Amino acid sequence: MKVAIIGKGKVGTAIGSGLTRVGHEVKYGHRQPLERPRKAAEWGDIVIIAVPFNQVGNVEVEIGPAVDDKIVIDATNVVGPNGELALGFSTSGAEEMQKALPLAKVVKAFNTVFAQNQSTGRTGDVVLTAFVAGDDPEAKKVVMSLMRELGFDPVDSGPLKAARYLEPMGMHLIDLGYGLGMGTAIGFRLIKG
Ligand SMILES: NC(=O)c1ccc[n+]([C@@H]2O[C@H](COP(=O)([O-])OP(=O)(O)OC[C@H]3O[C@@H](n4cnc5c(N)ncnc54)[C@H](OP(=O)(O)O)[C@@H]3O)[C@@H](O)[C@H]2O)c1
Repeated sequence: MKVAIIGKGKVGTAIGSGLTRVGHEVKYGHRQPLERPRKAAEWGDIVIIAVPFNQVGNVEVEIGPAVDDKIVIDATNVVGPNGELALGFSTSGAEEMQKALPLAKVVKAFNTVFAQNQSTGRTGDVVLTAFVAGDDPEAKKVVMSLMRELGFDPVDSGPLKAARYLEPMGMHLIDLGYGLGMGTAIGFRLIKG
């Protein structure tokens, strides 16, 4: 598949290198040096948003209709200016993205995994769970399949509004890894008894 990744930072490059390894084509949209997100989004079959939360609105305006009918993966965590969860209870970053890109098929994924583990879906030998939420069943299947190819154990987390739970999970991961000093070689794994 042709996957456009908006944001070439830790998350963008991790996912991009993993997708390239398993045979997909990747093109980036970023600012320094300028590679227009709109051009990348027009090219891609799938578009991954991997920019800081405070830049998501700018990216949405820029890519706009280029993502109509396409799968858009929201990999962001909704981190506010003081490091707090910026949205919750009655909406989520992913649902707001869906409102801004109404004809796209927005899927929340990757946000509960540290960038260091996103290219393989593993930490050491341990397979991590990929929690995937979205309202379009086919889009969700495609994203789950891509994440399985990377090495994750994907789990269907339900409709897009489940991002209200996945986004706080992402924040807790940051807390555990950085705030409580556990480092980035940690991750979530759903145990099925
Ligand atoms: N790091 C993690 O472990 C992790 C894990 C899960 C989710 N996330 C989430 O994933 C997102 C990206 O995190 P990151 O760690 O990859 O951040 P990062 O390393 O700071 O990279 C962010 C990238 O976004 C680009 N960017 C910013 N504004 C842009 C715009 N308007 N148009 C195009 N590109 C733009 C930046 O490019 P310039 O520098 O050129 O502006 C940079 O390449 C965040 O929402 C974060 O919360 C992070």
